[in-house]
Amino acid sequence: MHAATMQETGRDRRPTTDRYAKCIEVSKRIRWDIDRDVIRGRRFDLSKKFMPDGLSKVQQLTFLSPAEKRFLSQVQGRTYANMFALVERFIGAKTTELSHDHALGDQVAFEALVRLTDEELKHQELFRRLERMASEQMPEGYQFMPQPNDVAGAVLSKCSWAVMGLTLDIEIFSQAHYRSSIEPDTELSELWKDVFLFHWKEESQHAILDELEWRRVHAQLSEAGRDEGVTDLIELVGAVDHLVQLQAKGDADYFIVHVGRELSKAEQASIADVLLKAYRWQYIVSGAQDARFGDVLTELATPAQMDRIGAALGPIVAHVTQATH
Ligand SMILES: [Fe+2]
Ligand SMILES: [Fe+2]
Repeated sequence: MHAATMQETGRDRRPTTDRYAKCIEVSKRIRWDIDRDVIRGRRFDLSKKFMPDGLSKVQQLTFLSPAEKRFLSQVQGRTYANMFALVERFIGAKTTELSHDHALGDQVAFEALVRLTDEELKHQELFRRLERMASEQMPEGYQFMPQPNDVAGAVLSKCSWAVMGLTLDIEIFSQAHYRSSIEPDTELSELWKDVFLFHWKEESQHAILDELEWRRVHAQLSEAGRDEGVTDLIELVGAVDHLVQLQAKGDADYFIVHVGRELSKAEQASIADVLLKAYRWQYIVSGAQDARFGDVLTELATPAQMDRIGAALGPIVAHVTQATH
């Protein structure tokens, strides 16, 4: 067995090869097909919400009617699907790169990472299909601003420690969102909800693999290399924040044009503010505050590094918790 896979990790005390093997076993068992299992010839039901209230924060906009809030949840749900397709581009590329470390070593770890990459390619195809369906069913003019390859290029220029930290954060928050907000909401479009049910099933294995790989990368680094990783992770959080600011503004403009009535300047500003809060919550704060992610990060980063990360997140967290007027 490859020496790197003999280490024991975290709360699960099994040797790491067994943990990679478990991911392969579950991945084979739950494997799904885009058409046969997920879409099944269906379209979006626009009489229902996409994004659940727990994530969309649309209930804060008390001047909107229920139908208007529903439309805003659909705009957010469309962006949510596009955002996953975006991050899966760099996640697949990074996983392929890391899998080279196992290619002539632990074949179990290698297979687990190849399967992860294959699943992310399938997810991107699913999300592209959904975007095409949404563009046929929703009013014209919606734009998803970030370009997957531009974002991937910027993310992949950072060191692996930071990229794996961001990746674990994303794959953990995708599960937390499903369990705490999407699954319990009975008023969502069935197709939209099913997409994230099936996505969640495969992402559960991904989060385990991300943690294993992040720890493996961490173990190979010097103290200086880890500190550089923290700096890069903070820069990546800043880049994600820039990206969500751009998309929140675009989605607010799209909603305001298509809401079907004149909104005051103050109401328009509130919509833009709630969208930015919702996106900062969805894509940054909910993951950063997740206990499972926090446990791993606290183990890998020093207290001084945790303070740096906390200081960088501070203004974003403060904004998310502020009231909108
Ligand atoms: Fe995915
Ligand atoms: Fe994933």
